[in-house]
Amino acid sequence: MNVVFLAPSYPPEMRQYTRGLAEVGARVYGVGDGPLAGIPPETRQHLTGYLQVPRIMDEVDVAQRVQAWLRGKRVDRVESNWEPLVLLAARLREMLGVPGMSYDTVLGFRDKQLMKERVKAAGLRVPYSFRCTSQEQVREAAHTVGFPVCIKPIAGAGSADTYRVGDEAELKRVMKLTAHVPEVSVEEFVEGEEFTYDTVCVDGVPRFENVAQYLPRPLVARTEEWISPVICTVRELDQPTLRDGIKLGRQVLKALGMGTGFTHMEWYRKANGEVVFGEIGCRPGGAHLVDQMNFTCDIDLFREWARAVCWKSFEADTTRKYNCAVIFKRAKGEGRIHTIQGLRTYMDRYGQGVVWENLLPVGSHRRNWKQTLVSDGFLMVRHPTWGGAMTLANAAAEDVTLYAS
Ligand SMILES: Nc1ncnc2c1ncn2[C@@H]1O[C@H](COP(=O)(O)OP(=O)(O)O)[C@@H](O)[C@H]1O
Ligand SMILES: [Mg+2]
Repeated sequence: MNVVFLAPSYPPEMRQYTRGLAEVGARVYGVGDGPLAGIPPETRQHLTGYLQVPRIMDEVDVAQRVQAWLRGKRVDRVESNWEPLVLLAARLREMLGVPGMSYDTVLGFRDKQLMKERVKAAGLRVPYSFRCTSQEQVREAAHTVGFPVCIKPIAGAGSADTYRVGDEAELKRVMKLTAHVPEVSVEEFVEGEEFTYDTVCVDGVPRFENVAQYLPRPLVARTEEWISPVICTVRELDQPTLRDGIKLGRQVLKALGMGTGFTHMEWYRKANGEVVFGEIGCRPGGAHLVDQMNFTCDIDLFREWARAVCWKSFEADTTRKYNCAVIFKRAKGEGRIHTIQGLRTYMDRYGQGVVWENLLPVGSHRRNWKQTLVSDGFLMVRHPTWGGAMTLANAAAEDVTLYAS
C-alpha cells in the first residue's frame, strides 16, 4: 500500500495522520514545501520517501514533480487532510489514475456556492442566498433576502470578513468593510444554535459520527475578544435536538457523493427546531476537534482514518463515553503573558476531568486571536454527563485568566 500524503508535517496535527498511515501498514510518500530536515524525527521515521516542492499550492507544478518522482512505482492512494490541498490531492489522483474522490466531487466540498447548490438540489434546507460581485448586487440581494442578512466571503475561512447585518445603516457600514472581498454571499441570517456533524466515511457510509456544539456560535466568538469560546462534543447522539441535524448530515454526504475519509459539517438549529445546512469540508475539523473526538470515545481516529483510507475498514469501538469540551483562552492585555490566574485552584477542583492543559506558558507572546481559534491556548475537559462537562467548561472560561503586558 503506497500512499502519497500531502503536507505530512504541516499543520502539526498532520504528523498524527502520517503516523496513523504507517501504523496500518502503508508506505508513506510525503510531499511538502518544507525541507525534510524540518520534519521532526518522530514523523520522519514514518516516511518511506519525501519530495520537497517549491510551491505546494501550485497544482500543475506539484503534479508534474510528483509524477516524475514516482515514475515506475505503483501509487495506491493520494490523500490530504488539510483543506487548502484537498483539490490538489484529487487532481493528482486523476493524473496518476489512483482511486478516490474525483476533482469534481471534491469541488463540491470546497466551493461554497457549488456546495450549497448541490445540497439544495437534493431538496435539503440551505440558507436563502445570493452570490454577489458588486456593491450594487449586495444592496439588491440584501433587500431581496430581507434583514437580518449574513454577508461573508464565498472563499471564506475562520469567520473572516463575516457580518450579521440588521438594518440599512449596518448594511452601509458592512459594505465598506467588505469592499475588498471580490465575491461575497449575501444570505438569510439563520438565528439559532450551531453544531458540527463530523464523520469518518468508507465509500460514503459513516463508520464514525460525531456532533459538537459551538458555544457561542463562531461568528460571535470571533467578534468578542473577552469570550472564551467553547466547543463540546455531545456524548448522547440519539436525542431529539440532534436527530434532524444528523439526518441532514447523512443526506448531505449522499448529495455531494462523499467517498472515503473525514468530513466536517456545520449546521444550525433554529428555535422552532428547523435545521439548516451551513457548510462542509471533506477533511477533519480543525482546532483539535479530532483530539476531542478521540477523548469522547477513547479511540485513535488518526489511525482509524488511515485504516479507512487504506483498507476501507474501521476497527475502533465507537461507544461514546464522554462529552469533551475545549475552552480557548484569550489573555487580557497585549504582548507577553506574565500571569495565569486561577489555574491552580481550577486543577485542584476539576483536575480529574482535565485531559489536556495546553495554555501558552508565562513568557510567551500572545497569538492573534482573530487568526487562530486556538488563541492563547486551551484546556480540554471531559465528563460523562453534559451538565458535568458544562460545569467544567464554564469554570475554565470564567475562573482561569491569562494576563499579558
Ligand atoms: N447564513 C448564516 N446565518 C447565520 N450565521 C451564519 C450564516 N453564515 C455564516 N454564519 C456564521 O458565520 C460563521 C462562519 O461562516 P461559515 O459559513 O461557517 O464560513 P467559515 O467557517 O469558512 O468562515 C458560522 O460559523 C456562523 O456562525
Ligand atoms: Mg465554518
